[in-house]
Amino acid sequence: MLTLGIETSCDDTSAAVVEDGVHVRSSVATNQDAFHAQYGGIVPEIAGRQHVALLTAAIEDAVARANTSLDAIDGIAVTRGPGLIGSLVVGVASAKALAFALSKPLYGINHLHGHIFATFLDRNGDVPRYPFLTLLVSGGHSQLVEVESATDMRVIGRTTDDAAGEAFDKSARLLGLPFPGGPEIDKLAREGSPQAIKFPRHRAEPGSLDMSFSGIKTAVRYFIESDEGKKANKADIAASFQAAIVDVLIQRLGAAFERKPYTSVVLSGGVAANSALQQALRNWGKQMNVPVFIPPPKYCTDNAAMIAAAAAHQGEAVRADPLTLSADPNLPFELLVS
Ligand code: KG4
Ligand code: ZN
Repeated sequence: MLTLGIETSCDDTSAAVVEDGVHVRSSVATNQDAFHAQYGGIVPEIAGRQHVALLTAAIEDAVARANTSLDAIDGIAVTRGPGLIGSLVVGVASAKALAFALSKPLYGINHLHGHIFATFLDRNGDVPRYPFLTLLVSGGHSQLVEVESATDMRVIGRTTDDAAGEAFDKSARLLGLPFPGGPEIDKLAREGSPQAIKFPRHRAEPGSLDMSFSGIKTAVRYFIESDEGKKANKADIAASFQAAIVDVLIQRLGAAFERKPYTSVVLSGGVAANSALQQALRNWGKQMNVPVFIPPPKYCTDNAAMIAAAAAHQGEAVRADPLTLSADPNLPFELLVS
């Protein structure tokens, strides 16, 4: 079964062809880094217009690289939310037009479900078994998700303020690093000491698995503005900040396991590409004897293959009426059937 995936929720224009929800036959992505450099971040209006300019070519390219044709595709999967409305509508309108013209089923996918199913991509049978726990950390979200099955998932802990990726991006900006700041901090931190500065770690209320990252970000700002901070090595600040974020995430994951055992842990979302987080999670898995699944970096950050994978795994539960599917920038996590 071949699924064409389309993902335009933020500023990456992506299309992919995935076989049986696992084998990536092609994955095409163009980013808008040139605009980031100019504006210091994502400008929603520009992101939407760029999708209009780039998406048709990305779809044609994905189909050609997969050595197939649009007629041979079995279904079309598109991100319907959450995300930037001006970006989402471009993908949804294109997917609807294709589904209508080709008489193919249309799957409206939750972007966050896509991140979770990225873990099944390009694996040879070595996949997590249900029920597993996902630590989903991206630029817009940070949450712990209990995955009972492809269509039975619930959020059991979440950030009450900034997402982890947002904290990385904002702290990177304070350090004078370009956008997106996560990969930049990751790189710089390799030359610094994670023990150099003791940034605060958020403690959860008893019984809660919620997390918070705005305190760390504020502490970084105050430190940089202090006399000590002005003399400090930037790599030490980056490494110490990163260690604080990783500590909170691993602590909350451990607390979730104390409540209930899961077969395995899946790391997903853009921040899953972080080398310190990956190392800490692998160490935790070894210590606890719990299998850990981490997708390769290209499937951690936004991509269309993960959207096709989610559609293939969720199947009929997410099939939508081609003519009524609409983009929803605030699509709730639990909503499955359109
Ligand atoms: O999942 P994603 O591509 O887009 C959203 O759905 O938000 O995540 C983007 C986020 C950005 O905040 C970016 O800085 C962060 O993921 N990120 C990283 C790394 N690579 C990407 N954060 C820390 N370390 C990285 N290596
Ligand atoms: Zn994402």
